[in-house]
Amino acid sequence: MFEKLIKWSKANHNDLPWRENRTLYTTLVSEIMLQQTTVSTVLNHYERFLQKYPTLESLAQDSEDNLTIEWKGLGYYRRARNLKRACEEIKNNFDGKVPLDYNDLVGINGIGEYTANAIIAIGANKRALAIDANLERVISRIYGIKELKGKKLQDKIKQLFASSKICQEIDELGAREFNEALMDLGREFCKANKTYCEVCPMNRNCYSIESGDPLALPIKEQEKKIMKYFDLKLLRLIVEENGKILTYKKAKNEWLSNQFEIPSFTILSEDILLNQYPKIPIQFDYELLPMLKTGITKYRIENYLLALSLKEFEELGFKQDGYQWKPINNESNLSTTTHKILKFLDYEK
Ligand code: ADE
Repeated sequence: MFEKLIKWSKANHNDLPWRENRTLYTTLVSEIMLQQTTVSTVLNHYERFLQKYPTLESLAQDSEDNLTIEWKGLGYYRRARNLKRACEEIKNNFDGKVPLDYNDLVGINGIGEYTANAIIAIGANKRALAIDANLERVISRIYGIKELKGKKLQDKIKQLFASSKICQEIDELGAREFNEALMDLGREFCKANKTYCEVCPMNRNCYSIESGDPLALPIKEQEKKIMKYFDLKLLRLIVEENGKILTYKKAKNEWLSNQFEIPSFTILSEDILLNQYPKIPIQFDYELLPMLKTGITKYRIENYLLALSLKEFEELGFKQDGYQWKPINNESNLSTTTHKILKFLDYEK
């Protein structure tokens, strides 16, 4: 299923300078340069850098200061120090020859899993997958692997690859060209935020194009946990006599503790654990009432407002017990919502 992709990659990208006259040393250099840096940036530096450091020994022997000067423009200078350290270790411990055993490679300071696999696959053309964010992305899209982007997905890809469930053609097609073609695919057709499926050489063999939503993979952790709001509908009663209203004091363990609110009842609460407001004891078409929206913590509240005389209040079955009369002013320690309601209904200026 990868033949067309590889043909396209060879036809279009074989002239990248690190794909010519390749050795394990030049692969080490180019693969470290290509981490976190675009191909076009590396193109501006790679050949000059290799003229300055044609051999592993020449790089290992030079001073870090000189190396840093040669690395200028590539950024992420830690990589230059890693490269030097790796070359020193290979010179000292491996007789100057880049080892090909995976464990030897990752044991070298400055060589991580990706670089080790890239040296094996691209440098030596031996079976390995150099899994970075690009390969992770294109492989998860091609095969429809639904694991969270990052370590989980990379581990899954490694496991599927080790058990030959994916990329079975790698040996037959050659590990070098196979890895490079996937890299080219990720750069040209299958970008993180945009895909060009209509012209992609993999479009007959891709889970994601079938799915209709190629950007859905790899699965990304949500940048920010979306705050879950609870909708809450309250009936608020305004019982006014001679400039005073009926109120009750909010308890210690409730919102706005010690402040005063008007009689309030739950019409509907998405949060079944919320028990601050007793259930509405009467049934009627509350949606005909004036409504004011407020919010507190994670609750979005619709306040349905019903003004009643004391007589009406009692006729509906409510009792004055537990309520106290409070003048409508700023000294009464009324809650902000209560003030808003009183203003909304013109009880307060
Ligand atoms: N990105 C990382 N390694 C690469 C390579 N060898 N060719 C193209 N892009 C790459």
